[in-house]
Amino acid sequence: MKNLSAKSFRCPYQESKLKSTANLVARAQSEIMSEKLEKVNLVWLELNGCSGNIISLLNGQNPDFQYLMTQMSNFLYSNSLLAAEGSEAMDELFNVIGSTFILAVEGAVSLKDNGVYTIIGRQKEHAVTGLEAVQKLGENAAYVIAVGACAAHGGISAARPNPTECVGVHEVLQRKVIQLPGCPCHPDWFMGTLAYIMLYGEPPLDSRNRPLMFYSTTIHDRCPRRSYFDQGIFASKLGEKTCMFKMGCRGPVTRIDCPIRQWNGHVNWPVEDDSPCIGCAQFGFPDAMEPFITFNTTRGE
Ligand code: SF4
Ligand code: F3S
Repeated sequence: MKNLSAKSFRCPYQESKLKSTANLVARAQSEIMSEKLEKVNLVWLELNGCSGNIISLLNGQNPDFQYLMTQMSNFLYSNSLLAAEGSEAMDELFNVIGSTFILAVEGAVSLKDNGVYTIIGRQKEHAVTGLEAVQKLGENAAYVIAVGACAAHGGISAARPNPTECVGVHEVLQRKVIQLPGCPCHPDWFMGTLAYIMLYGEPPLDSRNRPLMFYSTTIHDRCPRRSYFDQGIFASKLGEKTCMFKMGCRGPVTRIDCPIRQWNGHVNWPVEDDSPCIGCAQFGFPDAMEPFITFNTTRGE
């Protein structure tokens, strides 16, 4: 008899949520192939951070990164992946101004001393700061997407004592920025948002400009350990299979779909691996979520 594990039996509604990205991307590709839709010009700017979001995107599957590069977009610029160097690279970056393009930014914007602590390249003798690049490109882009915690709200780059005065991208632009917080951003959150924009324009957003298709529900509300919480059965040490609320789990205040989407090719996520959610996809991470393993779970969102 077939073993109906949690993974082999999913609620159809949750299953449809999980497939949202693949369905959107498939529709975008079908419209591109039938020439109803053009590939989008995409610029991926890396500012003050660890480059974890481009690495996360490279690890994406269904659809994978190659698909993004070849089927969906004209991938015009990425600090990590571009072959060009020096002034030539900066020329390629700023030459997109005047075309219709989407700007994806990962990493925070360093403001201290006019941004001099994040130099992304040199154009002849001029040192180009991340602040300058994001302002020039951001005001000209069709859409701006802040990818990951640092771009969305400062994240780890802006953690106390924030020596380079890092802020999120929206704080230096006079326009709407679609926010995809997470440390890192899941490949599906970015690919789904991009495909939605290509097909229909701006996706439905919450009051903090996060796409509702990914960020509408707290982890706590979809957690498989929720019945333990409701019965007051709590883990007292890591490794126990009950609710980790008293181990500091931030699932109750973190809005994102990790319990159904999962990571590394949709195979696992922190709580299933006996680690409390540390709220990496919630605004304020990490300062507002620390300390990560604690009985004090009363701190606000
Ligand atoms: Fe909520 Fe965390 Fe407990 Fe899951 S483990 S029920 S997310 S407090
Ligand atoms: Fe991050 Fe919590 Fe998901 S730590 S990866 S938001 S389960």
